[in-house]
Amino acid sequence: MPAADFAADARVLWRLLRGQPTAGNHAERLQAFYAPQADRYDAFRARLLHGRQALIDRLNLQPGARVVELGCGTGSSVMRIGARAGEFAHFDMVDLCPALLEVARQRVARFQNIRVIEADATTWQPDQPVDCVFLSYALTMIPDWWQVIANVDAMLVPGGRIGVVDFYLPPSGNRWGNALWRKWFGHDGVHLSEEHLPMLKRLFAEQSCLEARAPVPYLPGLQAPYYLFVGERQSAPVALEIADHGSASPPDWLKKAPAAGMPGMV
Ligand SMILES: C[S@@+](CC[C@H](N)C(=O)[O-])C[C@H]1O[C@@H](n2cnc3c(N)ncnc32)[C@H](O)[C@@H]1O
Repeated sequence: MPAADFAADARVLWRLLRGQPTAGNHAERLQAFYAPQADRYDAFRARLLHGRQALIDRLNLQPGARVVELGCGTGSSVMRIGARAGEFAHFDMVDLCPALLEVARQRVARFQNIRVIEADATTWQPDQPVDCVFLSYALTMIPDWWQVIANVDAMLVPGGRIGVVDFYLPPSGNRWGNALWRKWFGHDGVHLSEEHLPMLKRLFAEQSCLEARAPVPYLPGLQAPYYLFVGERQSAPVALEIADHGSASPPDWLKKAPAAGMPGMV
């Protein structure tokens, strides 16, 4: 690796080693964490966030589709979607971090149909229902992650699709390995969970699911677990089921017997 690239990586690594700041609200912590590394975000995350192209491929987004990305960061998904992004009816990219959104705005400036929106993914809603919502390594960074899932369900047309790629804690994972990853990522505000994928599988009709591991920059020999899920909105109202539980953590009700007609828990 050229010395200049390593020096740029060192800035990102220093930020990661210091961890996500604890002062301020969620949006302020994101901004403090990402602003110093925004210019190097894409180059470093290209080696850390695996499966993003595979998610886009599996979504097979068509011209005329109404698409939303929640937690879009620098808008790099546009590179993976390519020219097709300009053929969507509209594409709303939502994030809470101004420093990353600034990069996204420059990246998509040439597209008339793409809006870059500073908003909270747990509450923001599009102007009209959409065909597809996807999240790429964002669910683990959103403390009220189940509220996002309810919000996605509320913005999809009947039969609309959700796509998620993210780190997780696999049930088959070694106890110590899972504990290491939980602590390692948690330091940077990335909260790995064993609940995200079962929740998605329970609430959406599974179309595609991949569970894999991939290398982490500067941690030779270690492979972080991640998954990729594509599911279809079901007629059962996810939002109502989740809303019933308010802002309480979902683990208890998640473990209850599935509602009639819902797929069982894994
Ligand atoms: C690891 S980054 C992933 C960015 C991008 N999707 C990618 O694949 O490169 C997680 C993103 O989630 C955003 N985020 C975290 N909490 C959010 C929230 N409540 N609403 C919207 N975006 C949020 C962060 O600002 C950050 O851009």
